[in-house]
Amino acid sequence: MKRDLAGSRILITGASSGIGRSLAEQLAAKGARVAASARSGAKLTELADALNARGGDVLPLQADVTVEADRQRLLDRVVDFFGGLDVLINNAGVASWGHFADSTEEILRQVMEVNFFAPAELIRRAIPILVDGRQPAVVNIGSMCGRRGMPAWTEYSASKHALSGLTEALRGELARFDIDILIMQPGLTRSDFSHHFLRNEGRMPIDFSAGMPPETVAADIIRAIERNRTETVLGSDARWFLRFQRFFPRLLDRLIARRVRKLYETS
Ligand SMILES: NC(=O)c1ccc[n+]([C@@H]2O[C@H](COP(=O)([O-])OP(=O)(O)OC[C@H]3O[C@@H](n4cnc5c(N)ncnc54)[C@H](OP(=O)(O)O)[C@@H]3O)[C@@H](O)[C@H]2O)c1
Repeated sequence: MKRDLAGSRILITGASSGIGRSLAEQLAAKGARVAASARSGAKLTELADALNARGGDVLPLQADVTVEADRQRLLDRVVDFFGGLDVLINNAGVASWGHFADSTEEILRQVMEVNFFAPAELIRRAIPILVDGRQPAVVNIGSMCGRRGMPAWTEYSASKHALSGLTEALRGELARFDIDILIMQPGLTRSDFSHHFLRNEGRMPIDFSAGMPPETVAADIIRAIERNRTETVLGSDARWFLRFQRFFPRLLDRLIARRVRKLYETS
């Protein structure tokens, strides 16, 4: 199946920066009708104004995805404005970086709220709308940490594993409505992600500036949506890493444990 995104009505969460913003820009350029959502209303308005000036059809919608009333309002506004919804892209996400033992319940719950409960509940509410959509699909933005948990990314890894499990389980359920559900598992991406960490105390040096440009990640995600690929790992580093994990999980455990011990020996 080839999905034609021109004219599609698409809701993107987390569209104020990084991957979500690039998705909004590229989908609008393809002729999709885009509802761009996030908490930063001013950034969304500026984005929508710029894209609409170039002939786009972009609706900025300020919303906090962790708030139930905001999720309902989002969908209501999309239906009012576009007359329906064809593709829901759950992209909003946050992370906390640092060891779990020194973290807090509040951080764990916040990461799960944004990365898991919000997309799950948005999907539940969107199903009755997507049923009437054209080539309808839910697209979840996971992470390579959604297939291999990483130390110091414990809450984040758990939330993205939960999202992977939800996606797999729902695939069978949504088949009876002819709604596709896809998941994207990006590797390291150059975005504002690290500026939004709930906690920034990890010891392993990670250079986000060396990650993939968000424009490239967004272009690969759009290609995967058009080709209706159920799961796509984005980035050659992530693909190699997950391949290594599949064939040598014990060896990877040992290598990671050795690295963590070393990082903590030097303190
Ligand atoms: N960067 C990476 O290396 C990487 C790798 C793998 C996967 N990912 C995933 O890719 C997705 C996008 O991340 P990014 O790299 O583009 O990071 P980003 O630049 O920090 O973008 C995150 C987006 O989520 C929004 N957001 C956060 N909390 C929200 C909330 N409660 N309600 C509504 N919107 C919220 C932010 O907007 P506001 O602050 O305006 O609300 C922002 O637009 C995330 O799901 C992330 O887990 C990123």
